[in-house]
Amino acid sequence: MPELMRAVTATGFGGPDVLGIDYVPTPVPRYGEVLIRVAFAGVNRPDALQRAGAYPPPPGASPLMGLECSGHIAALGRGVTGWQVGDAVCALLPGGGYATHAVTSQHQVLPVPSGLSMAEAACLPETCFTVWSNVVMRGGLSAGERFLVHGGSSGIGTTAIQIATALGARVFATAGSAVKCAACADLGAEAIQYRENDFVEILRAEGGAHLILDMVGGSYIPRNLRALADDGRLVQIAVLESPSAEVSFAEIMMRRLTVTGSTLRRQTPVQKAHIAQEVLAHVWPMIDAGHLRPVMDRVFAMDDAAEAHRRMEASDHIGKMALQMPED
Ligand SMILES: NC(=O)c1ccc[n+]([C@@H]2O[C@H](COP(=O)([O-])OP(=O)(O)OC[C@H]3O[C@@H](n4cnc5c(N)ncnc54)[C@H](OP(=O)(O)O)[C@@H]3O)[C@@H](O)[C@H]2O)c1
Repeated sequence: MPELMRAVTATGFGGPDVLGIDYVPTPVPRYGEVLIRVAFAGVNRPDALQRAGAYPPPPGASPLMGLECSGHIAALGRGVTGWQVGDAVCALLPGGGYATHAVTSQHQVLPVPSGLSMAEAACLPETCFTVWSNVVMRGGLSAGERFLVHGGSSGIGTTAIQIATALGARVFATAGSAVKCAACADLGAEAIQYRENDFVEILRAEGGAHLILDMVGGSYIPRNLRALADDGRLVQIAVLESPSAEVSFAEIMMRRLTVTGSTLRRQTPVQKAHIAQEVLAHVWPMIDAGHLRPVMDRVFAMDDAAEAHRRMEASDHIGKMALQMPED
């Protein structure tokens, strides 16, 4: 293994211009970990937050950005069973995906689904783990329910639409432009252009949402509660607008609403391993059956990570972006 590897590094916290390429020590897999020779790394909104200093990596994780990747197993730590050097995989990472090599727990590694490219496979773990754990394990979505996802054209949103549709739910999705709404509709959602239409009115006219997956927060929180059917569930996965809102707990009580949420990165290795097993058992068959495929926006060269972050922060993208690592 080379002692040094190429990685996307940052000169400090700030805008995309702080990003550059440097040589850093290649990580060594510890007990139960594998080393992956990264082919592609998925780009996620939390990467941009980490770059800006608003989302520090958890203790013990790589200081590099990158929460998911595809590639081939390059080395095994002690105690690893079930994986061989050379296996084509995709993996959820504690960080460190923006590099030619990355380490992660053997229990957060999944096989590359057949029929998907390595670029597509890199874009699966973060969104599939997040959507399955929040929409199904936490939110309990079942067939026939009305499901609303905000940010419908995002990496998370496009995955949530496809998984919820495959589960037999009636899916509504909000998005900020006609083009983004068309992308949501292509995936099977009833799209709501939120700058022109009130999602609360639309959902209430249909009897309310049984489940809402929200990443906006702020002013959306009381509106989400109003858009829920009695006994409905709100699952919060991010607070892009604001973490705070004034809500009536009388409404929660009288209409038996459930408000919950989670973040993936802070969960324990045991919890992540459990989600990985669920994703392998339930989401990978959806991919095999043709019900789910990552919506790919663009693939950037590793050297162009700053450009990918600019595109994400301008919200110009639809679906997922990935970085391609050099082969040498
Ligand atoms: N809890 C977890 O474990 C977890 C895991 C992964 C990601 N996340 C979060 O989930 C969200 C989606 O992630 P992603 O990687 O799919 O990101 P993304 O593609 O950039 O999605 C963000 C979307 O939110 C919409 N949006 C609505 N209001 C917004 C606002 N006030 N500011 C910015 N965007 C707004 C944007 O579309 P419009 O143009 O339609 O507004 C955009 O499509 C992110 O906030 C991310 O941090 C949470």
